[in-house]
Amino acid sequence: MPEIRFYSGDEIPLELHKVRIVQKLDLVPVERRAQAIDEAGYNTFLLKNKDIFLDMLTDSGVNAMSDRQLAAMMIADDSYAGSATFTRLTDKLKEIFDTDYFLPAHQGRAAENIIAMTFVKEGSIIPMNYHFTTTKAHITRLGGSVEELVTDEGVKLVSDNPFKGDFDLGRLESLLARCSDRIPFVRIETGTNLIGGQPVSLGNMEAVADIAHRHGKLVVMDASLLQDNLYFIKTREAAARDLSLREITRRISDKMDIIYFSARKLGFARGGGIAIHDRSLYLKMRELVPMFEGFLTYGGMSVREMEAMTVGLDETMDMDVVSQGPLFIKYMTDELLARAVPVVTPAGGLGCHLDATRFLPHVAQQEYPAGALAAAVYIAGGIRGMERGTISEQREADGSEHLASVELLRLALPRRVFTLSQVKYAVDRIKWLYDHRDLVGGLRFVEEPSSLRFFFGRLEPVSDWPLRLVNAFRKDFGDSL
Ligand code: F0G
Repeated sequence: MPEIRFYSGDEIPLELHKVRIVQKLDLVPVERRAQAIDEAGYNTFLLKNKDIFLDMLTDSGVNAMSDRQLAAMMIADDSYAGSATFTRLTDKLKEIFDTDYFLPAHQGRAAENIIAMTFVKEGSIIPMNYHFTTTKAHITRLGGSVEELVTDEGVKLVSDNPFKGDFDLGRLESLLARCSDRIPFVRIETGTNLIGGQPVSLGNMEAVADIAHRHGKLVVMDASLLQDNLYFIKTREAAARDLSLREITRRISDKMDIIYFSARKLGFARGGGIAIHDRSLYLKMRELVPMFEGFLTYGGMSVREMEAMTVGLDETMDMDVVSQGPLFIKYMTDELLARAVPVVTPAGGLGCHLDATRFLPHVAQQEYPAGALAAAVYIAGGIRGMERGTISEQREADGSEHLASVELLRLALPRRVFTLSQVKYAVDRIKWLYDHRDLVGGLRFVEEPSSLRFFFGRLEPVSDWPLRLVNAFRKDFGDSL
């Protein structure tokens, strides 16, 4: 990827693609936004798309697709068994990861279910840099537990550490020495989602794998966010500067026993699966696929999505493609920083992350500052983000609240979806909200599901703060949207 400099010296991410299909957006008035979030129980997952202007909830299944992906979807082979589409996909995985076996699954969490059902039992401990919501839910459902081993720097929200997803190798060594018989595998999450899309260095991944293997343990990589992680290895890790993305990927995959992913992220399509080097590991997991997903050559996925995924995986090896997400996220993060808005640094992958603890210091953690910020950002701009804080945690077995180590509002930038002026609009509205942050109050649950409560739980504001926010908006913006 050649560097492109502006004569003005401005640091602006330049789109290396052109837009050929568009979807019209509506921006509803602030009063409707306040009403919509109230109807949604102050949970952005429950908003309806017609009320949303910029949907920054997630990058999952909503990345822009390329002309080559759409073209490939037209030649999908529908056969129930032995589909040529599946062969093309496994060939591409072999080319990229050098894996001989692939178990298809309908999305990433289905792959997690298969891995957990095969290896996790009552009392198992799964060491990982950091948990992901669905990963942890599958492990704990089976009586296992998660041990997070990210370095202390990983949960520091303000940092200049380029690889905040790295494992603390000393803690990994000592955990393996102490509890070896309870540990079936070590999980490495690339592009560590819940701490702000922060990458793991190539050196750290290799060291983790070597330590785990020395203790006779399998290494499982969650590659859902590998594309951003590859970009950061290439641009931030001196030892990888001269390696191509394909070479970096092979260096990583050669050390892994199992590579699973959500193709809603990796591959810019929808679906998922598990790539495996070793036949006996493949056989251990295989029977769960037809039982829960679908036959072995589609695993619950549409063949069209599998064709799109094959091309998407190929395009993931192109720096012009994978750089777009991180460059736009960095732009948004830098613009917010310039306006003194508290954000997670350094900018990671997946999205820009607001630090709700510093944004709303007057909202107690028990009143869900990240959830309140998500509702307030939606009211301020019709922008939908995702709470990544205490609401996204599960209660402890005794029913007590598990306060998250960080309270974040994630504003995802699905890859190649938003334009620069839309990002500027988001920055503008967030800055306005920051200047009116004292108006924002907390939330409390009115309906709380016992598992994955962030998906469908309903809350209410602890005061009439949404109304006060609407009034302030009208005062400053007049009749404008
Ligand atoms: N692992 C990681 C690191 C993820 O980010 C996700 C999904 C999954 C596993 C599960 O994959 O959704 O295909 O079942 N992350 C989405 C998100 C939901 O919005 O961050 P899935």
